[in-house]
Amino acid sequence: MIVVPGPASKELGGKIAKELNAKVIGVFFKQFPDGESYVRFEGELENENVVIVQSTCPPQDSNLIRLFLLAGTAKDLGAEKVVVVVPYLAYARQDKRFLPGEAVSVNVMARVLKAIDIDGLVTVNVHEEKVLKKFDFPAKNVSAMGVLAKYFKEKGFDGAFALAPDDGALELAKEAAEVLGGGYDWLYKKRDLHTGEVETKAKKLDVAGRDVIIFDDIISTGGTIVNAAKILKEQGARRIFAACAHPLLIGNAVERILSSGVEEIVGTDSVPSMVSKVSVAPVIAKSLAEDF
Ligand code: R5P
Repeated sequence: MIVVPGPASKELGGKIAKELNAKVIGVFFKQFPDGESYVRFEGELENENVVIVQSTCPPQDSNLIRLFLLAGTAKDLGAEKVVVVVPYLAYARQDKRFLPGEAVSVNVMARVLKAIDIDGLVTVNVHEEKVLKKFDFPAKNVSAMGVLAKYFKEKGFDGAFALAPDDGALELAKEAAEVLGGGYDWLYKKRDLHTGEVETKAKKLDVAGRDVIIFDDIISTGGTIVNAAKILKEQGARRIFAACAHPLLIGNAVERILSSGVEEIVGTDSVPSMVSKVSVAPVIAKSLAEDF
């Protein structure tokens, strides 16, 4: 197996290769003055099983094109099998047409990746696992919640309460609670389809005097975490933390979250960021070794 770290996931790709004891082939990458991307594999791929690691974090559109160029070219160069590791899978969130005429972006993504002729995909905490059924090739979702919860456990937060800031994150909090052992619950959240503003409904939680960690798949603008932190403070939570697989952290998300009373934000290297303190390399490597 050869691992190719794409321009968006250089470090993570290297870590995955190390976990698998696999050879690494680098990519020479540049951007033309007009904004187009150029990629060149710095080694032979012929007859090899190739794993391309390329997250589609911001700038999503550019990183997607680089993924398509890499995966398509690997096959042109004679790779036997091409598996793409896309830890943050952009455009996976829109899996339904809420308003007439909207693009169901994940359907288009699935069709494009199929046309490129990839042999498999591994992603991390995709927003809704069921969207992977739309992919007409083996597609596997792995979870970062175990490694995130372990980070907190090792820092002495064994027994902390795990909170899902919306129903979509319930399974994530449950998974984290299996490591932390302090129970879990979830909040009801509604998002305005036009403004994107989120509203979170308060409910009685078993958090008074306790340390609480909010677990979510993505932190984007931070609105979801800020709302949850406000409810936790009102109910007397002791220390509050936020953990996510994909720290997109758009605009002033970090400042907003920290000033809402959250002590620390912890993300993974699915999306390189200032809070990417936990690596998803071991869980991805395990899936590659077992499933592909
Ligand atoms: C959507 O429901 C996701 O699970 C996240 O909760 C959401 O993407 C977070 O977005 P934001 O940080 O902008 O509230």
